[in-house]
Amino acid sequence: VTEVIVVGSQAEAGELVARSILRLIGKKPDAVLGLATGSTPLPVYHALAGLLAANPVDVSRVRGFALDEYVGLAPENPQSYRSIITREVVEPLGLNPALIQVPNGAEATAEHAGEEYERAIVAAGGIDVQLLGIGTDGHIGFNEPGSSFESLTRVKTLTRQTREDNARFFPSPADVPVHCVTQGLGTIRRARRLLLLAFGEGKARAVAGAVEGPVTASNPASAIQLHPKAAVILDEAAASQLANLDYYRFVWDNKPPWQQL
Ligand code: F6R
Repeated sequence: VTEVIVVGSQAEAGELVARSILRLIGKKPDAVLGLATGSTPLPVYHALAGLLAANPVDVSRVRGFALDEYVGLAPENPQSYRSIITREVVEPLGLNPALIQVPNGAEATAEHAGEEYERAIVAAGGIDVQLLGIGTDGHIGFNEPGSSFESLTRVKTLTRQTREDNARFFPSPADVPVHCVTQGLGTIRRARRLLLLAFGEGKARAVAGAVEGPVTASNPASAIQLHPKAAVILDEAAASQLANLDYYRFVWDNKPPWQQL
C-alpha cells in the first residue's frame, strides 16, 4: 500500500517525517537511514536538527547510506553528494561520520562501486527507512526511466532532463556530471520502509504516475507501488494531479492512533 499524505507546507512535511525518524531511533539506536540529497529532503534534516536541539537523543550509533553520488566529482567538491551529506545531515545532526556511507564516485573504480556498496548495505543489516525525492521524469535515486525494478547499485547515465534540473547547483549546465552511482530500484525496494517526499507543481505529474499510474519502468518511482510500506508526503501543488485525493485525505483524517507514520 502506498499511503498518501498531503500537508500544508514543506516545514510540516519535514516535521512529520523527522518525528517518524526519531521514533525509529528511539526504538533502534543504531537505525540505518537511507539518505536522499537534492532540495526535497532539506526540510526533514532541518526539522530533525531542531527536534534534536530541543530534546537531545543519542544519535551516535545511527548509520546511514546515501542514495547516490556523481561520478567524477572529488569528494571535497561542494556539489559532491559526500559533501552535501556532510554539510546538510552529518554535521547539523551530530551523526558519527564514520557510520555514514556514500557511494564511491571515483571514476577509476566506478565499475565496482555498486557491488561494494551493496555489500556494505547487506553487512549493516539493510536500510530501515529510505528517504526519497522524485525527479520530474519520475526517477528515484538516479534510476532514470527504463531502469530495471530489480537493479542494484550501479553506474547510470543521467538524462538530459535531470542534468538540466540539477544545473542550478553547478557553475554551468556543462559542469553537471553525466554519470552517477545510484542505489538501484531493487536496492530501494529492499529498504524496510520508504518515505517519498515531493513539493511543487513541477513534480505533480511524476507523483500521479508513481502513485496511481501503471507500474512501469517508464516511471521508476512507480516501483513504490510494489513496496508493502511506502508513504508519499506531498504539498498541495505536488498532489494536484492525483485522482483519488479525497480518499487519501479521508484515510489520513481517520488514521487509527496506533498507526503512526
Ligand atoms: C537525490 C536523488 C534524486 C532527487 C531528485 C529530486 O539523492 O536521488 O532522486 O531526490 O532528483 O531532486 P530535488 O529534491 O532537488 O527536486
